[in-house]
Amino acid sequence: MAKPKVLVTRRWPEEVERRLADRFDVTFNEADVALGAADLTAAMGEYDVLCPTVSDKIGATVLAGGDRVKLIANYGVGFEHIDTEAAKAKGIAVSNTPGVLTDATADIALTLILMVARRAGEGEREVRAGQWTGWRPTHLLGASLQGKTLGLVGFGRIGIATARRAFHGFGMKIAYYGRRETLPDVARELHARFYPDLGELLAASDFVSLHTPGGAETANLIDAQALAAMKPGSYLINTARGGVVDHAALAGALRSGQLAGAGLDVFPQEPKIPEELLGLENVVLLPHLGSATRETRVAMGERALANVVAWAEGRPLPDRIA
Ligand code: 8YV
Repeated sequence: MAKPKVLVTRRWPEEVERRLADRFDVTFNEADVALGAADLTAAMGEYDVLCPTVSDKIGATVLAGGDRVKLIANYGVGFEHIDTEAAKAKGIAVSNTPGVLTDATADIALTLILMVARRAGEGEREVRAGQWTGWRPTHLLGASLQGKTLGLVGFGRIGIATARRAFHGFGMKIAYYGRRETLPDVARELHARFYPDLGELLAASDFVSLHTPGGAETANLIDAQALAAMKPGSYLINTARGGVVDHAALAGALRSGQLAGAGLDVFPQEPKIPEELLGLENVVLLPHLGSATRETRVAMGERALANVVAWAEGRPLPDRIA
């Protein structure tokens, strides 16, 4: 029997590409430039399996492009770029890669908290521009983390991992808002306070870190009203999805001083950065580095591969989401 045809839309670390290619008839996107809607649409009729990433928009129109694809094994945990309902309606299975990028993403949330609180981006820009005039007691003063409240919006795997680092490593207090209260042992470990009301969490937090899924349900969750509810002089961190934040409203809050700063790893239309943020000193901007460690990207490839292999062998997918 011919090997199933698999399209990998972006380059993976070499070792996992090799393992995939050992078992399947794989096409890699050699140029590693995001595929357009036309290529993705055509792929629906040419391959058995697609392995996309966050940079591929797979909506109903793309899915209607052909009937050959039977599995979409997403390389990544977030999947709001895939219309899972339309996929399900066509009988296409969808999987993701949960768990393996929890620590790396929590590390980036802490990176952003530290960078924005300690003004690391500003300092780096100053040094590189040759504008550092020397040490002085009032130079680039930031905020301490010790004893401050970190409010997590969404308290799943990555939210909890971020809270653990902040609590055990930096002496922060933990508060969270989510669909339900967390497990009692997690709450006890982190002395975590649950806020069933988002506005109350925002008002109680010195740092707010977003850990919700993207998509319609959370679109602009942090809008002008939410930003106004935040503590004056507090900080917003986003490693979730860009669409969760209204960036025009955020820029206003950063300019007015309502927020002391923001640390952002994700944006609504990546790789575009909302223009109004680029000129602001009190925002740290990273190019979606959440899971960008070699170890994690290999583990993500292995996880996607495990789903493709399970599908090829007719077994239940370990990470089926649709
Ligand atoms: C991934 C992410 O690198 O997995 C996710 O949801 O946000 C990132 O860390 C990216 O999505 C890969 O598709």
